[in-house]
Amino acid sequence: MSCAGTDEAVGGLLQDQGGNVPVISLPTDFNEEELYVDLRSMLGHSLYLKCEGFNFAGSIKLKAAQEMVEAAERGGVLSPGSILVESSSGNLGVALATIAASKGYQFVCVTDARCNLSTRRLMEALGSQVHIIAEPDVSGGFLGARIEYVRALCASDDQYVWLNQYTNPNNWKAHYRTTAPAIARQFPHLDVLFVGAGTTGTLMGCARYFRERRRPVRIVAVDSVGSVTFGGPPGRRMIPGLGTSVRPQLLDESYVDEVVNVEEADTIRACHRLARRGFLFGGSTGTVVSGAAQWLDHHDVQGRLTAAAIAPDLGERYLDTVYQMNWLQDLYGTALLPDDELTAGVTPA
Ligand SMILES: Cc1ncc(COP(=O)(O)O)c(C=O)c1O
Repeated sequence: MSCAGTDEAVGGLLQDQGGNVPVISLPTDFNEEELYVDLRSMLGHSLYLKCEGFNFAGSIKLKAAQEMVEAAERGGVLSPGSILVESSSGNLGVALATIAASKGYQFVCVTDARCNLSTRRLMEALGSQVHIIAEPDVSGGFLGARIEYVRALCASDDQYVWLNQYTNPNNWKAHYRTTAPAIARQFPHLDVLFVGAGTTGTLMGCARYFRERRRPVRIVAVDSVGSVTFGGPPGRRMIPGLGTSVRPQLLDESYVDEVVNVEEADTIRACHRLARRGFLFGGSTGTVVSGAAQWLDHHDVQGRLTAAAIAPDLGERYLDTVYQMNWLQDLYGTALLPDDELTAGVTPA
């Protein structure tokens, strides 16, 4: 657990005299950095899943958001009166909404129709404005259309500040500084790390960290089928978080040892298998776990590798999608999951 909080009295109610109880005064002061789930009983291979959903923004994006905001403040780009604007499929939006509320900035999140309703409501509850792009751009998809809208907003008024998670080096630096060292500390003999690729901030931060320290860790990127990130053809993708319709500028493939592509149907199956064991994770965790399982089936025949993967968020933001039977059946048909693996809710007709 990392906690930048105080150990002094807060409002006269709590006193952490032993130094073991986190007492915070800012939402960014707390982030669980040391929690792993061992998936051996589910996969037949030991896979340590690093849980990044335990903070006040509910996802790994709190780290990238904080790093980008603080760098912009230090650089004088962001100052009182600025309006933050960002294109996000959800989690970075919630993280920026959290930070904006705590620091007194306004924030406009530009997202698209695939953004979960609960994610949108979270941002609004935190006082942010959410703009939904309804139609994809002909060549750049939803992401292209979102970025066009952000550009137009910034051109209209110089109070708008776009941190741009797709190009901002502080996105990957957050993980270079926090996520990767935390994994390295926990697993000094790590053989393989599976990282889902969205903006590729998490992937590049972790990959750079291990490469620069000459640690022999195989970095396996996990992406969804239909994403163009690693050069595949574009296709329909309904689960936010992973994958892109425009190649991410942060990506430097020379740091990536392998790429595994996962069909969304397999993502859903992995999410439901985890939920059946009481672990309700977000959609991209299903992608990462499914990709890691495929890779380990081929490469860890003797079951000796030490493998870790990153779970960016938890499942409660996906109750209307990944864990909702009607949504699943409309998109993927009835044959997606065998009956004994169904955990999804059914909305009565
Ligand atoms: C749900 C989810 N999946 C995947 C990712 C991928 O992260 P990145 O943009 O660093 O590649 C994120 C980032 O927050 C996420 O929130």
